[in-house]
Amino acid sequence: MIAIGCDHAGCEMKQAIIAELSEKGFEFRDMGCNGERCDYPDIAEAVCGEVVSGSCEKGILICGTGIGMSIAANKIKGIRAALCSDSFSAKFTRLHNDSNVMCMGARVLGCGLAAELAEIFLTTGFEGGRHEQRVNKITELENK
Ligand code: RB5
Repeated sequence: MIAIGCDHAGCEMKQAIIAELSEKGFEFRDMGCNGERCDYPDIAEAVCGEVVSGSCEKGILICGTGIGMSIAANKIKGIRAALCSDSFSAKFTRLHNDSNVMCMGARVLGCGLAAELAEIFLTTGFEGGRHEQRVNKITELENK
């Protein structure tokens, strides 16, 4: 199960991702918004809560730039959120950072590219090995 959310700037992109990836077998829990004006930190909190609790495996967050969502998401303990606009980043943030939330900008990317990046993010595993101790150090930073 994938938690997904957007602010008012990202609804069209969110629906496009849900439509395209549902056909490929992904299941989504839509945490809002539904088009109404809202504050992106509230949606980031809702989506990241699903991930941190283990209720959802990963999260996808969309706002106008993707930046506000990524700043907010990365304040939440246990979240490693990656702002992605290209396939290399979408792949390597999974391989090397074990990111559990992906953020995208609806005013930056087209819906087709966003769905493709989301699929890459959701289907790429963590490489582990030397990257594990680095990710562990990120976790240690949360407790300082
Ligand atoms: C909303 O207008 C916009 O500020 C928001 O979607 C996002 O881009 C913030 O980072």
